[in-house]
Amino acid sequence: MSIEKTFEGEVDQYTPIEKIDRGGQGEKYIAVDTLKNQRLLKIPNNSKDESASRAFYVLDSILKEQDALRTVKHPSIVELKDVSKAKSEPFNVLEYIEGFDLDRIITSERPYPVQLCVKIATELCDALAEVHKHNLYHGDVKPGNIMMTNDGKIKLIDFGLSGVPGKTLRCFMGTPHFAAPEQIDRKPELASDIYSAGLTLYALLAGEPPFIGGSYRVVCKQLKEDTPDIREKNPAVPCDLAEIISKATRKKVSERYESAEEMAEALRKSSQAYFDSLEVYFPGCFDSKGNEKISTQTTIKGLKATYK
Ligand SMILES: Nc1ncnc2c1ncn2[C@@H]1O[C@H](COP(=O)(O)OP(=O)(O)O)[C@@H](O)[C@H]1O
Ligand SMILES: [Mg+2]
Repeated sequence: MSIEKTFEGEVDQYTPIEKIDRGGQGEKYIAVDTLKNQRLLKIPNNSKDESASRAFYVLDSILKEQDALRTVKHPSIVELKDVSKAKSEPFNVLEYIEGFDLDRIITSERPYPVQLCVKIATELCDALAEVHKHNLYHGDVKPGNIMMTNDGKIKLIDFGLSGVPGKTLRCFMGTPHFAAPEQIDRKPELASDIYSAGLTLYALLAGEPPFIGGSYRVVCKQLKEDTPDIREKNPAVPCDLAEIISKATRKKVSERYESAEEMAEALRKSSQAYFDSLEVYFPGCFDSKGNEKISTQTTIKGLKATYK
């Protein structure tokens, strides 16, 4: 389906310039508005071969994202700029984030340097604390739903599975590799995001999440097996950071951090030592003298080049 056809005169204020082929829910276009601001349009996929149940699911996720982002505003959370309609279906107009989503580490099989992972996880927990303040869970915290901007900040995106805790869903909604046991059991809570944040940190440090394989196998492990010690995969991870992952990903909600703030605080404490030095190690990136020790800013540039 061409971009022009999708938008058939109904959204004159947005001119689509490029389709993004990432993620599975609906279609995404980079567009410009009449003031030449870049935007990201998330619209339902209205192709004929879309099944009715799938179309419903996508529409539902677009409406959930609208609801959440109308309420939740934070520098580390994608901003909803507008809502509009195409072919009488609602769609979301989001700020366009120049950068990349963190799924690339998973596909590149190269873990991020420890310092950078801690910074990402801390900003993620700050963002989650804001979401939770409104009694909403995100429901799909994972590297693919976190973007790193060109100036090295993170933005939490994709609120399509967000919701209010305390309800039993009709089926499991989420990503098995990052979902908490109670979420798999169809009862997501705010604490489910803390579990997913713990597994996200694990995945950033290890280059892959702890449980891999087919969905059924992963779900069984998520329900029954403790998260393996991250240091088995990445010996450079200090003990206190390994302990943070372990506490965030306990099977029992009552044994996890009580809040995202508490987890952020633990991460900040653990990272104080690293941030005393602005120099971080990033394999494969060199400064002008050929050293592998480079500044954080250079690291961001290096990351962009390496994970492109
Ligand atoms: N606001 C944005 N700016 C730039 N790229 C984005 C934005 N939102 C999403 N993307 C890109 O599109 C991908 C899929 O978007 P996402 O919101 O996660 O939808 P899905 O529900 O399909 O996973 C993201 O992983 C990211 O690469
Ligand atoms: Mg997504």
